[in-house]
Amino acid sequence: MDILKVFPRSSRINEKGNLEIGGVDTVDLVREFGTPLFVYDENHIREQLRRYRNAFLENGIDAIVAYAGKAFLCKYMARIASEEGAYLDCVTGGEIYTALEAGFPAERIFFHGNNKGDEEIEFAIENGVGYFVLDSFDEIERLSSILRKRSLKQDVLVRITPGIVPKTHTYIQTGQVDSKFGFSLASGQAYEAVIEVLNSKNLELKGFHMHIGSQIFSLEPFIAACKVMADFCLSVKERSNYLPSIINLGGGLGVAYRLTDEPPSIEEFISTLSKALKEEFSTRGLSLPVVAIEPGRSIVANAAVTLYKVGTIKDVIGVRLYVSVDGGMSDNLRPMLYGAVYEAFIANKMNRAPETTVTIAGKHCENGDILIRDVKLPFPEIGDIVVVPVTGAYGYAMSNNYNRQPRPAVVFVKEGKATLAIKREKYEDLIRNEIT
Ligand code: LLP
Repeated sequence: MDILKVFPRSSRINEKGNLEIGGVDTVDLVREFGTPLFVYDENHIREQLRRYRNAFLENGIDAIVAYAGKAFLCKYMARIASEEGAYLDCVTGGEIYTALEAGFPAERIFFHGNNKGDEEIEFAIENGVGYFVLDSFDEIERLSSILRKRSLKQDVLVRITPGIVPKTHTYIQTGQVDSKFGFSLASGQAYEAVIEVLNSKNLELKGFHMHIGSQIFSLEPFIAACKVMADFCLSVKERSNYLPSIINLGGGLGVAYRLTDEPPSIEEFISTLSKALKEEFSTRGLSLPVVAIEPGRSIVANAAVTLYKVGTIKDVIGVRLYVSVDGGMSDNLRPMLYGAVYEAFIANKMNRAPETTVTIAGKHCENGDILIRDVKLPFPEIGDIVVVPVTGAYGYAMSNNYNRQPRPAVVFVKEGKATLAIKREKYEDLIRNEIT
């Protein structure tokens, strides 16, 4: 099996037997930037964005590809998305701020969230954010009143909960009726919301949004979502003679974390989606609006790896060999939060066959802080560099300072060059907001 399958596309094993990404030896990266370290392959990210765009083109669909910033956002990443012509899905004022600081065009931002605060709303409006994705009746009222006071208008989408439950971890299912997100179709609230928006002088209804969940391998629920969307469009047209100019289908395409994972490719995903949309809309006599999607994970997950240094090796005789690294649940919460399973390798021993089964433990003061259980590695030694691939999405984005651990650094590599995008936090950073 090609072990590089889940790694960033530019990865290779060099003459020294070390992992190289973007033409840079990861052992050199560790020497220069320390560990834990997130390493992103810039061209991999650009290519993923282009694949989405080209796939829509091939299928003859007028589309908007919005990168979901929640997966990983910093100024460098926002600039890549901007240069690739993508839109951006933001869920907080903080994400919008980061994007704007990077020069990301505000009009290409979709602003999501089930509880947008007044300050966030004002910040977004003042900066000309393109679209609000409305999520509650309270928000419709709050946004309208803020706009009214300023005599402004705002383009919006209405988020509907389609009642679709994809097979994925329950924490990341979002399409079911019992969800904090969106207006439910089943109860008729989605239609009520549309009417409220159509009646508002300050809100300009541009279309509808739905997102069924994340890390989804089966295309069936996406096909079902297209049908639900088309049904909703038809029903709104019949009842109110309104046709959306945009339908946004959210994100959710799964990625391979393990070598045995076989998610659909971006091309298969988009071609299936396109066919379903064309069919569902044409059989209802509706013309297809602009199609927007919001992939996060499938853009950045496989584009990055995390490098750690092995600090201690403990043989609990007859039970388990613990290999402890200098990070853990502060830089990757996913194993603990979702039971996510990753692969691991030794970046300075990539040519060596697996010789032993180990458990890779984090350094945090919590017994459950285990990154990977029972992974086969060459005999590990103190000082080795453990590499965990597929940490590009929801890794740094969910990193934290548990146990007052400074957050790692993030570098982007490309054509033999490494650029430090986010520096490693220092101890001083840990107390920078403390007053006394
Ligand atoms: N659009 C909306 C409205 C979303 O809620 C999400 C993800 C996306 C797009 C992007 O979905 P993606 O293409 O990345 O699957 N922390 C979790 C994932 C949470 C996803 C939240 N929403 C994890 O680490 O698995």
